[in-house]
Amino acid sequence: MQNLAGKVAFVTGGSRGIGAAIAKRLAREGAKVAITYVSAPDRARDVVGEIEAAGGVALALKADNRKPDEIETAINEAAAKFGKIDILVNNAGIAEFGPISELTLDQFDRTISVNVRSVFVAVKAVLAHMPDGGRIITTGTAFALRAPMQGISIYTLSKTALVGFTRSLAHDLGGRGITVNMLHPGSTDTDMNPADGEMADGQRGMMAIPQYSKAEDTAGLVAWLAGPEARVTTGAEFTVDSGFSA
Ligand SMILES: NC(=O)c1ccc[n+]([C@@H]2O[C@H](COP(=O)([O-])OP(=O)(O)OC[C@H]3O[C@@H](n4cnc5c(N)ncnc54)[C@H](OP(=O)(O)O)[C@@H]3O)[C@@H](O)[C@H]2O)c1
Repeated sequence: MQNLAGKVAFVTGGSRGIGAAIAKRLAREGAKVAITYVSAPDRARDVVGEIEAAGGVALALKADNRKPDEIETAINEAAAKFGKIDILVNNAGIAEFGPISELTLDQFDRTISVNVRSVFVAVKAVLAHMPDGGRIITTGTAFALRAPMQGISIYTLSKTALVGFTRSLAHDLGGRGITVNMLHPGSTDTDMNPADGEMADGQRGMMAIPQYSKAEDTAGLVAWLAGPEARVTTGAEFTVDSGFSA
């Protein structure tokens, strides 16, 4: 059974990694899916092609999270094409790592605009197109729950800000039956954090199950949060992190 037949999803950063897996999974559940990308149009086209080849419907739109007007335009275009947006997945993100003595104001501002401000912009833009009972799902990080290493201060700050936003928004939108939730992936094998990268063994050493997640692991949770069984699950945080934060 397809849990999301008749639904429309909008996934930021759907061209690669966790976002691409989420887009494909939501499409498999029957949703029409719009994805955004910024630097990899070819990868975005591949995701759309894969969804279409499997019988789904998808659309790729360029929208830089640093540019509010591009986010708003992409959301309006997706809504015009598909008639509404039931599910917003705020997934696109960047990770700027380094010791506090070396991190720059530019890195701080870039991180906040891509990881945090864009979520505020997307939520505001999507509400006009979201029917009651919609879903807002935001990708955080397990570092928002446990930050046991040096060099992750700006990244952790940005994702932790989204936790507070998620909890508050759940109350703002609960009257419309719109749920707002956050998921915290742990180390996940993507371009951002390859399972064979220099830092990988250190991360595995902090997990209960010493294995990197696959992007599909997180996508499965998103499919559940987007589906009918999660009707009254809101203001909540979920980890998919091999027990890193346990
Ligand atoms: N991988 C991990 O271990 C891990 C762990 C915890 C949380 N996360 C979070 O999960 C999310 C996805 O991470 P990932 O590992 O899949 O990363 P990734 O492989 O680096 O993919 C990043 C995605 O975000 C998009 N993106 C980057 N900058 C953007 C911008 N300025 N505007 C719009 N889109 C932008 C990219 O688009 P292009 O392809 O066009 O560049 C791509 O689709 C992020 O929020 C990240 O913080 C990842």
